[in-house]
Amino acid sequence: MDREAAQSRADWLREEINFHSHRYFVLDSPLISDAQFDHLVDELHEIEQQFPELVTPDSPTQRVQGQPAEGFSKVAHPAPILSLDKVTSREQIFAWHNRVSKLLPQEAESLASETLDYVVEPKLDGLTVVLHYDRGRFVLGATRGDGQVGEDITTNLRTLATLPLRIPVSNDGPEIPASLVVRGEVLILIDDFAALNAGLIAAGEMPFANPRNAAAGSLRQLDARITAQRPLRLFVYSVVEKTGPALLTQCETLAYLRDLGFPVTEEVRTFESLDDVAHYCETMVEQRNTLPYEADGLVIKIDDLATSESLGVVGGRPRGAVAYKFPAQEAITRLKAVEFTLGRTGVITPAAILEPVPIAGVIVSRASLHNFDVVDERDIRVGDRVIVKRAGDVIPYVSGPVVAAREGSEQEIIPPTTCPSCKEPVSHPEGEVAYYCINVACPAQLVQKLTFFAAVMDIEGIGERTALQLVDQGLVKDPVDLYTLQKEALLELEGFADKKADNLLGAIEASKAQPFTRVLAALGIRGVGFAVAALLTAAFPSLDALCSALAEEIASVEGLGPITAQNIINWFALPRNQAIVEKLRGAGLTLSAPEASAPAPNSQPLAGMTFVITGTLSRPRNEVQQWIETQGGKVTGSVSAKTDYLVIGEEPGGSKFRRAQQLGTPMVSEEELGHLAEEVTT
Ligand code: IVH
Repeated sequence: MDREAAQSRADWLREEINFHSHRYFVLDSPLISDAQFDHLVDELHEIEQQFPELVTPDSPTQRVQGQPAEGFSKVAHPAPILSLDKVTSREQIFAWHNRVSKLLPQEAESLASETLDYVVEPKLDGLTVVLHYDRGRFVLGATRGDGQVGEDITTNLRTLATLPLRIPVSNDGPEIPASLVVRGEVLILIDDFAALNAGLIAAGEMPFANPRNAAAGSLRQLDARITAQRPLRLFVYSVVEKTGPALLTQCETLAYLRDLGFPVTEEVRTFESLDDVAHYCETMVEQRNTLPYEADGLVIKIDDLATSESLGVVGGRPRGAVAYKFPAQEAITRLKAVEFTLGRTGVITPAAILEPVPIAGVIVSRASLHNFDVVDERDIRVGDRVIVKRAGDVIPYVSGPVVAAREGSEQEIIPPTTCPSCKEPVSHPEGEVAYYCINVACPAQLVQKLTFFAAVMDIEGIGERTALQLVDQGLVKDPVDLYTLQKEALLELEGFADKKADNLLGAIEASKAQPFTRVLAALGIRGVGFAVAALLTAAFPSLDALCSALAEEIASVEGLGPITAQNIINWFALPRNQAIVEKLRGAGLTLSAPEASAPAPNSQPLAGMTFVITGTLSRPRNEVQQWIETQGGKVTGSVSAKTDYLVIGEEPGGSKFRRAQQLGTPMVSEEELGHLAEEVTT
């Protein structure tokens, strides 16, 4: 390839990669597979390696290349990055409104209560960033700093997959302004945060206290390669400065930013009455935990930007918007005791027993202490007054002690030397954070394993209590013993009468029909959940095939890696697990996957059909897409003559909807989509 050909191929690849990463990360609606995407990036990398002079700072390959910086240089913001006044109640919302409407010009004031529109957005609890675009290229990104001067974190921001390096992302987007500065928030989604912390704990590192700290710590890394590994997300919500025609309303601003290719949160509402605004704020207090990220409140904005700006700024806070703060999801209470609990894999974790305290409407009397390293690092002691937090739907956790409230009688928390259940010595492997009970016959672990097995195999009637009874009476020594249970023995257990015993035995019998993938997931092999089990059974369609597989063979399955492979090999190598495998063979369970070449009739009811999705669905769009694909269907990004159905959610997008109308494409709701699959099946 000569230089000229390389240049034009690289340009094409960059455009293609930017387009597809926007589809994937921002719209949640990819048009190509991950492997195809990686291919494009690999090809661009190769060209850039061959012709280093062709590398541009906004090339998508630069997202992960950041070299350690020396510290951050300072950046003066083009306009002050203001903060907001706060309100916490309906009354205060009205008081804010009364205050500001007095400042409106006379005629506007009299009209204010009737004509003002309001936009309400989540107050994202992350880090404020200011992003500069020069003729569509991302050239500079800064933290808020003191509102006048921030820090240059451009290299780190380039690593964010949702940050457009070049705008507009799509060809039919708005015209590029010569210069554009936008403001947004960088954060970590609650689910990503939980996974990030689990990974840090497993690697023996300190977990973050909350998503905000995790985002801040990740974004201000001097080494951008670390930032690149963190699941940071960007949402933008305002234009700080822009050349060209002015935007008139906040609604228009959000739509404009979205059209340019910026990620904008979907949870935005407009209202015509302040009463509706207040009502919405109150209902969102209850629903804050349904948001995918942490929001510490809502921001109420006067939609008309000229009106909003005419109100001016007082004490660094614009009058045209106000933050409605949610009540804190934290409280201070006394740590009464620490309980050591045992997990299915033998890990012993400390749990905090608290003096009961209400936090955002829920009485909390127990909370997570993460692990013993965290307890040690934060110096949490029994008897301390501690700060307890709730975030999203995550279990409450102790974030730290109130050291100033100590009385001197507080007791250090010492990791146990013996298992809380079987009293055998505990193991604390060198270099690991966890403390383990390694006794294979430990009853508490068995109880956990049994309830897990029953839950995965969908055996109703085996909760912790029954599992404990079965283990205590020696009826079950491993989960597969369930299949040898006799009715007479069950009737001996407290609370078991004829009907209950029959029901349980019926449920156990029915579980024999569960597919091989479930059986495999139910065994509780470390790292083998449903998704991994499905990959395994596709590659090794029987228990025999899997038992005799080599670590390299397992590791070479796409989606698996050497660590999972080694866990599987280790599990099958243990004599007690070999005994379980032998019992499984005799128990009449399904131990092979149906042949891929002869699928069950109509297992793919949507085969050959093409779908397009528009609007908000009850589940994330990629989940619905995945479901359609497992049913054999295909999802594409735009409506054409080849589209069989347009799936319509709430607030469907205009262009797809109109095109479907023009073409006469049938439209179905999410519910009808489900029926469609069933109809074809029956
Ligand atoms: S608008 C001039 N909208 O909350 C008005 N701010 O004190 C600028 N924040 O740190 C703020 N989500 O960065 C606005 N949807 C949102 C926001 C938001 C989070 C942050 C903001 C600032 C604080 C407000």
